[in-house]
Amino acid sequence: MNTPTRKEHRNPTKTGADRAGGSKAAGPKDAESVVRAELRPGQSIELLKALHILTRDGRMNQDSRRKLKQVDHLVQFIEKQIAELTPHAGELTLADHGAGKSYLGFILYDLCLKDAGSGRVFGIETRAELVERSRALADQLGFARMDFLAISAADSAHDAALPERIDVVTALHACDTATDDAIAFGLAKQAQAMVLVPCCQAELAAGLRQNKALQLSRTPLAELWRHPLHTREMGSQLTNVLRCLYLESQGYSVTVTELVGWEHSLKNELIIARWTGQKKRSAAERLKALLAEFGLQGLLPLRYRRLAEAAPGAKDGALAADEPK
Ligand SMILES: C[S@@+](CC[C@H](N)C(=O)[O-])C[C@H]1O[C@@H](n2cnc3c(N)ncnc32)[C@H](O)[C@@H]1O
Repeated sequence: MNTPTRKEHRNPTKTGADRAGGSKAAGPKDAESVVRAELRPGQSIELLKALHILTRDGRMNQDSRRKLKQVDHLVQFIEKQIAELTPHAGELTLADHGAGKSYLGFILYDLCLKDAGSGRVFGIETRAELVERSRALADQLGFARMDFLAISAADSAHDAALPERIDVVTALHACDTATDDAIAFGLAKQAQAMVLVPCCQAELAAGLRQNKALQLSRTPLAELWRHPLHTREMGSQLTNVLRCLYLESQGYSVTVTELVGWEHSLKNELIIARWTGQKKRSAAERLKALLAEFGLQGLLPLRYRRLAEAAPGAKDGALAADEPK
């Protein structure tokens, strides 16, 4: 029987790769072969080094391992969506909002699109320096079907550089309301699938905070968000519930699950929306009822514009003119 060393007792979560990555004794070859065992077949070591997920000598630290695990896992969910859809224009198009350093876009391209010879990824990110860096990296790697735009998620739906339709919309930890903007983009672009991992949310919590005294006098349920920490958590929870209802009301089936174990990320809720064309009127009604219950009706024209504009008496499953067929 193998007896764990004292060090292993102290840190039972360390893997063989951690030890190889962290130990000066392990040579670069050992470190790289341990790391390679954690990667997907064919995953580019050169790309991971360029993204600084791997060090120059092929090692990986705990933070980058966590990031890679998140992104690889998300890619698996996205791959499944891609496999089930027929691209609008013969070539798959995917837009990633709040792309940051574009880990997701690059890894997705590397694993799913590079060898397919078709398919285009658009990275949408407000920070121009990150966009420049991603452009340079795509050039360096010869990832010719990647485009990066220094625009906000809110502006992306109207930007001429993006095609009229996009097949898949993703947003991994896009800050605050950028996830809502990504959803609005997906609706405008008639996306067939949206894969969203929301980040922190402040907008709705601000509304809860504003109405707190009134709600406390009205309902004991307001205890759920009386303390500031609970206001924030409730704000996040309610935001994601409303996002799901909105997507359902617009013709998407929605699955909510965990991205990775909670030990890897606290922002771990994965929302997968798949276009079915069945617009759920009940979801629209529930959404409006929740806004009224929480005193947040002001959000309707701002975040759920299509419901504010919807013709009264619209039927479940009805298709609007600008929807995927
Ligand atoms: C937490 S980072 C996540 C980056 C990347 N998706 C990842 O998971 O590594 C959020 C990114 O969203 C960008 N961002 C924030 N608000 C945005 C908006 N409204 N439109 C586009 N990008 C936004 C930030 O500049 C930042 O790079």
